[in-house]
Amino acid sequence: MSPAEVPLRRVCPRCGGPHGKPRLAVPQGSPFADVDFSVTHSGDVVGVAVARGANVGLDVEESGSGAALDVDTVAPVALTDAEIAALNARPPAERVSAFLRMWTRKEAVLKALGVGLTVPLRRLEVTVPPLPPKVLSWPDGRNAPRALAMADVEVVTGARHLRATATVAATGTTALRLHHHDGTATLTAHTTSTPPP
Ligand SMILES: CC(C)(COP(=O)(O)OP(=O)(O)OC[C@H]1O[C@@H](n2cnc3c(N)ncnc32)[C@H](O)[C@@H]1OP(=O)(O)O)[C@@H](O)C(=O)NCCC(=O)NCCS
Repeated sequence: MSPAEVPLRRVCPRCGGPHGKPRLAVPQGSPFADVDFSVTHSGDVVGVAVARGANVGLDVEESGSGAALDVDTVAPVALTDAEIAALNARPPAERVSAFLRMWTRKEAVLKALGVGLTVPLRRLEVTVPPLPPKVLSWPDGRNAPRALAMADVEVVTGARHLRATATVAATGTTALRLHHHDGTATLTAHTTSTPPP
């Protein structure tokens, strides 16, 4: 099947408009009915997570762009007071990478739930690296899924060896078995005019 033929639907959980999480539009009983996916892009890096039997969220942030990130400015927008305190306890040289990791953990969870940034990042508390990924508190106790599995991924990809920080979250399961594929060869095979990064 050509990618353009894959049937998709988007329904916003807030307003019902056609801009929520993209999902496969297949009938119940289809062999693909339990397939979920999540798409993310940052700079020249694109990520796609695919899962069966769980809702999946993937967020990637190109780490190269992190060098210019002003953590003191963005942290109060995205982190809780406890997260900021824990971040500031880290050596200054590690703060950008720790911030990006917390950001991808939060976005991955909110994308798995399909709510995206309609839930402010400051109201979801996650662990600070080097602790393994985990949600510590949910906004108002709402949105908490019965089960959640998370995994951090460090990505180096493409001919230019782009570096990226990524987190995968899956709701409805506590076990995540991750198979990581570099799509550079696939993109190269399907791209005639613009070579992938
Ligand atoms: C989803 C969201 C967190 C992604 O932010 P981002 O870091 O800039 O972008 P990413 O590259 O990681 O992800 C983008 C992809 O997420 C997916 N996505 C969009 N909305 C989503 C949602 N509610 N839940 C999960 N995934 C979503 C799409 O595949 C999108 O790809 P596209 O831009 O090619 O369509 C952000 O766009 C968001 O919160 N959107 C929802 C806003 C909303 O619903 N507002 C209410 C309007 S009534």
